[in-house]
Amino acid sequence: MSKLDSKVALVTGASKGIGAAIAKALAAAGAAVVVNYASDKAGADTVVAAITAAGGKALAVQADVTKAADGQALVEAAIQQFGRLDILVNNSGVYKFGALEDITEADFHQQFNVNVLGLLLTTQAAAKHLGEGASIINIGSVVARITPAGSAVYTGTKGAVDAITGVLSRELGPRKIRVNALNPGMIETEGAHSAGFIGSDFQSWAVSQTPLGRIGQPQDIASIAVFLASDDSYWLTGEQLLAGGGTR
Ligand SMILES: NC(=O)c1ccc[n+]([C@@H]2O[C@H](COP(=O)([O-])OP(=O)(O)OC[C@H]3O[C@@H](n4cnc5c(N)ncnc54)[C@H](OP(=O)(O)O)[C@@H]3O)[C@@H](O)[C@H]2O)c1
Repeated sequence: MSKLDSKVALVTGASKGIGAAIAKALAAAGAAVVVNYASDKAGADTVVAAITAAGGKALAVQADVTKAADGQALVEAAIQQFGRLDILVNNSGVYKFGALEDITEADFHQQFNVNVLGLLLTTQAAAKHLGEGASIINIGSVVARITPAGSAVYTGTKGAVDAITGVLSRELGPRKIRVNALNPGMIETEGAHSAGFIGSDFQSWAVSQTPLGRIGQPQDIASIAVFLASDDSYWLTGEQLLAGGGTR
């Protein structure tokens, strides 16, 4: 008997990076997993193939989390395929760092739309189907705690994720649905490579701020997500778990 046997999970932005690792870890713990992607169908199909090859159940579903109708269709796909929903991981996110003078309206709206509005719309759609014991995990970031220079918009989105996590833990607590933020430090992902973080001075600075002396890998976050998804964390809600090797 595995920890998440008979549970159904939905992971947004699971075509790569942290989301892909979380989807695989939840499946390895017994959950059937909906692997959401926005544009990278091949990535999502690879994650589904890895899960099914290991004997698990998974389904890739395209949805842009910034669109309410997409969020509803995504949740409906989970219900139609697997009959229920127990775990929601709001992981989809975009990040673009830049100094105050470089902030644009477009960058603001893109990051707030995916990281904040997307989380709200997906949670709104999922909440209708979640029952007692369900777990919502919002992927935030340690940046909301350490507020690095040159990250006002992105850090603003993750500060909002922390705040919304607290609010929704109160709104959904009476239904015995838990809501926690899981906040990684720097993690080596496709997105971190594209953003130019890996091998940069920013990475060296991040390591210098990390007691455990390295940046993270997606699996470092996935195992904590399994804990937050499972009943092992049944007394935790409204928390902001820093998952950055001690970065704070
Ligand atoms: N990497 C880090 O250092 C780090 C640190 C702290 C927190 N985080 C957070 O962790 C999460 C994942 O980051 P990552 O580094 O793994 O990112 P990543 O490698 O760039 O992957 C991002 C994922 O989000 C999806 N996505 C983007 N826009 C979307 C939309 N409109 N609708 C649905 N999905 C969308 C992408 O889908 P497609 O590829 O299919 O388009 C992809 O699956 C983000 O919330 C990020 O802020 C990352």
